[in-house]
Amino acid sequence: MTRSFTAGRLSAVAAAMLISAVLAAQEARAEGNLTVYCSVQEEWCQLMVNEFQKATGIAVAMTRKSSGETFAQVKAEAANPRGDIWWGGTGDPHLQAAEEGLTEAYESPGMKDLNDWAVAQHKTGGGKTVGIYMGALGFGYNEDVLKERGVEAPKCWADLLKPEFKGEVQIANPNSSGTAYTFLATMVQILGEEEAFTYLKKLNDNVNQYTKSGAAPSQAASRGETLIGITFQHDLVTPAVTAGVPMVVVSPCEGTGFEVGSMSIIKGAPNPDSAKKWYDWALTPEAQALGAQAAQFQVPSNKSAPISENSPKLSEIKLIDYDFAKFGSSSERKRLLSRWDQEIGAQ
Ligand code: F6P
Repeated sequence: MTRSFTAGRLSAVAAAMLISAVLAAQEARAEGNLTVYCSVQEEWCQLMVNEFQKATGIAVAMTRKSSGETFAQVKAEAANPRGDIWWGGTGDPHLQAAEEGLTEAYESPGMKDLNDWAVAQHKTGGGKTVGIYMGALGFGYNEDVLKERGVEAPKCWADLLKPEFKGEVQIANPNSSGTAYTFLATMVQILGEEEAFTYLKKLNDNVNQYTKSGAAPSQAASRGETLIGITFQHDLVTPAVTAGVPMVVVSPCEGTGFEVGSMSIIKGAPNPDSAKKWYDWALTPEAQALGAQAAQFQVPSNKSAPISENSPKLSEIKLIDYDFAKFGSSSERKRLLSRWDQEIGAQ
């Protein structure tokens, strides 16, 4: 008796679960699906996905990878695209994807609310990409760790070559990471290409690791696993805000490059309507305010989006006139990465 009662209850529970699964599936079909390739930090990707799902009822599948890795994935899948929208990551590989016909032109109604630098990215990419945030490159260290090492505080890119920083500098690999490609392109623009590669070879003597993700060296520096991390300045602020680490963020004396973090709709996207809904939503001030909630302090592209007091003040940083059209072009990005592989990566 007891057994059959339990069996009866179980089958009722199973039936209820089946019905709700069918209803959920119908709902998802009714409201749509979306696959997002996300190239910012996991916490921000996740918050965006949750809030978009709540706002639209569209079911989102998300994969997080660094900018160069996502570019490679979109390219590898071009014959049979699986992703709908690539959200976040540095602008150069988004521009390369636009030039190589991997992404789709779109004119969102939200374009009129954006800062000029975000619209300029859209123009440079032939309408196939748009700026969603901006951030300056730099380096940083944990002040306590610097004191323990008893070395003079570095202030310039040139200081990172000093012998006392041997094995003390960390940066990502520019093939996987948009941050590290921004650094490579920045040094070429500041020093000229030959001198830049001489600099990178010398810097290589001081580098302890080329990480996959661009922001990883800032976390490593906050924990004292490396003294200096070269990353975007906003990534160096995060451990100070979330864990109270005494991080020092340096805007190098020679000047520095910057990113226009971007978003693109993937060509042949299986869910193009959902992709456009994400695109429009991601340009709103409400969606752009989510970055700071996830302790990410880039400057948003919507003119009405709040700028966190923790965001590095871009007007106070000596920014170079970064040539996105050149360094985001397919030929230049491929050429510089292959030179880096031969002369630096292979060492
Ligand atoms: O999310 C932090 C961040 O630095 C973004 O500002 C940037 O676009 C992205 O990471 C770059 O990541 P990666 O260097 O790993 O491609």
